[in-house]
Amino acid sequence: MGIIGYPLGHTLSPAFQGAALKHLGIDATFESWPTAPDKLAEKVASFRATDVLGACVTLPHKQAVMLMLDTVHETAREIGAVNWIVNGSKGKPDGKLTGHNTDAPGFLRSLKEEAKFDPKGASAVVFGAGGAARAVVFALRMAGVARLTIANRTVEKAHELAASMSKGRFRPTAAGLSRDDLADVVPYANLMVNTTSMGMAGGPAPEETPVTADLIRAGTLGYDAVYAPLETPFLREVERAGGRTASGITMLVYQGAEGFTLCTGQPAPVQVMMEALMRARAGRK
Ligand code: ATR
Repeated sequence: MGIIGYPLGHTLSPAFQGAALKHLGIDATFESWPTAPDKLAEKVASFRATDVLGACVTLPHKQAVMLMLDTVHETAREIGAVNWIVNGSKGKPDGKLTGHNTDAPGFLRSLKEEAKFDPKGASAVVFGAGGAARAVVFALRMAGVARLTIANRTVEKAHELAASMSKGRFRPTAAGLSRDDLADVVPYANLMVNTTSMGMAGGPAPEETPVTADLIRAGTLGYDAVYAPLETPFLREVERAGGRTASGITMLVYQGAEGFTLCTGQPAPVQVMMEALMRARAGRK
């Protein structure tokens, strides 16, 4: 097994996936495979070999790989992105490749199990309208949120995402990030999810938050898909307002745990993976 992306310098996946394989005594390794876009087709074709269980896919390949597979699972098709490629199924490689998206179920599992939050019936605000937002909005639709606003710097993108995710009674609204726009929705939300790169160490705006404490209702859950640092400016604002916080580090582990199970056919040792991830992070500082 392994992970493909480009560049891949920062990936923590080998550390926690490797720990899971070792813990269960599975005779396989999890490698880091930096793959430039012009080498992608060749690399994906190599996953058909009977000694490859599958691979995790990260930026910028999540869309491009979809054309190189035999089957793309419905969830991945609707989100428009694949983050795991599985050879065969459940630990039995057969040369047929299926694309999955475990970001959405991974996010829901981390909301429910780590943050103890059931999104059914919730009023939610999602900040951002990029790839991560797509998976989060899809997940929240699946989980039955009652109301959802997508708030993004570029409002047109929020409108586009809202329209493409609308289905049945699920009709997200779109907003910008101005104080006026947010004052109409944030005080009424009991779930907020940041999927923008605001607050990300090494990103374009490491000190910024999409919203400040004065608009946030006490008791609201703030979830940050950004996991480096663990405590982002957004989560600090949520805390100041008396809200609860959850870091996207749990989404990283749960998307990986779902992928691990798809590839190996075995339940993933989530706790072992989380501890290995924390050790790997600590070692990097
Ligand atoms: P990903 O796949 O990780 O979601 P992306 O598709 O590049 O990455 O999306 C990045 C998101 O962060 C977008 O919603 C972007 O807003 P725009 O659509 O307006 O570009 C948001 N973003 C990035 N930097 C930002 C900043 N400095 N302020 C506000 N939003 C920002």
